[in-house]
Amino acid sequence: MASCCNTQCFLNGKFPLQLLIVLTMTTHLADTETAAPVELRGEVGGNVTIRCPVDRERPLIFLYFQRGNIFVNGYHASRPLTNTWENTRVDHDMTMLMQDLNVSHSGNYQCHILYHGGGINENHTLIHLSVTANYSKPTLTVNCGSENHRFSCWATCASHGGYPGTKVTWTIPESQTWREVNNTAMPDPHTMLVNSSSTAFFNCSNVKLTSLSCSVGGVTSEMLPVCTPKKTPETFSPHVITAAVCAVVVAIIIALVLWFKCKKGQRRAAAAAVVAAADVQRGNERQEELTVLNET
Ligand SMILES: *[C@@H]1O[C@H](CO)[C@@H](O)[C@H](O)[C@H]1NC(C)=O
Ligand SMILES: *[C@@H]1O[C@H](CO)[C@@H](O)[C@H](O)[C@H]1NC(C)=O
Ligand SMILES: *[C@@H]1O[C@H](CO)[C@@H](O)[C@H](O)[C@H]1NC(C)=O
Ligand SMILES: *[C@@H]1O[C@H](CO)[C@@H](O)[C@H](O)[C@H]1NC(C)=O
Repeated sequence: MASCCNTQCFLNGKFPLQLLIVLTMTTHLADTETAAPVELRGEVGGNVTIRCPVDRERPLIFLYFQRGNIFVNGYHASRPLTNTWENTRVDHDMTMLMQDLNVSHSGNYQCHILYHGGGINENHTLIHLSVTANYSKPTLTVNCGSENHRFSCWATCASHGGYPGTKVTWTIPESQTWREVNNTAMPDPHTMLVNSSSTAFFNCSNVKLTSLSCSVGGVTSEMLPVCTPKKTPETFSPHVITAAVCAVVVAIIIALVLWFKCKKGQRRAAAAAVVAAADVQRGNERQEELTVLNET
């Protein structure tokens, strides 16, 4: 215990934790290079469990999970550890749970293990964590219009919130001629999640009626037709106009017929009322005659 150059010294708390981490990193760089990394996959918002090959038979002094020289979390036999990542927890079985993942948690993680009476990092494993996010189902919209009697369409495909960055791919029958106007993948500076969108142009003089779809990161949109003139509101076909005019004429005729019937009915009712009034009058007169007769 005269010299302070062994690991026992660090464990007694004479060296700051960060220095220890850097030292363990540099001492065992050779191990990192030879170990085959364990591939771990996580999803944004999800969680992963990182395991180190701990020998539970041997008395453990410490186990540190690190990303490079950044301390993440761990276990120490004789003191609590500070500056741990808030989204992590080390369980009794010496596994580390990492929750609420985001893209920035991706990277290479190491385990630094020290047993009583042993050298540091006998079991040193490199873990490669990749955090991904599913793209939303792409929304495909088709807008058509005509310029100088030339009919053309624009199809726009957009998907958001995916990682890693991927551009839109179009699925359009090979026989069609079309043009990609733009195709962008925009990462959000904070979350690093990517929005992808693309616009394609179809000259309907050259394109027969066709169906198309698009996909982003393995997620595919629904299929939509392009170059179908009847579906666009600004170009009514002559049939539609004829049908509309017919409908209006029929409606007017029905209205007139109803109106005439109504008027006729009213007149009849008025006449009936006059007749009824006359009847009443006549009845009254007869009653009076009878009374007179009775009196005489
Ligand atoms: C992401 O996509 C994969 C593959 O389609 C699927 O197994 C997984 O459940 C999806 N994740 C979420 C959060 O929807
Ligand atoms: C792509 O082109 C379309 C049509 O010109 C336009 O509306 C859209 O804003 C463009 N998108 C990007 C990301 O530049
Ligand atoms: C990505 O799309 C989402 C949802 O449409 C939007 O809220 C966000 O601002 C977009 N981010 C970027 C970088 O365009
Ligand atoms: C569409 O194609 C026709 C025939 O090839 C051409 O005359 C016309 O200029 C094109 N229109 C556009 C907008 O590209």
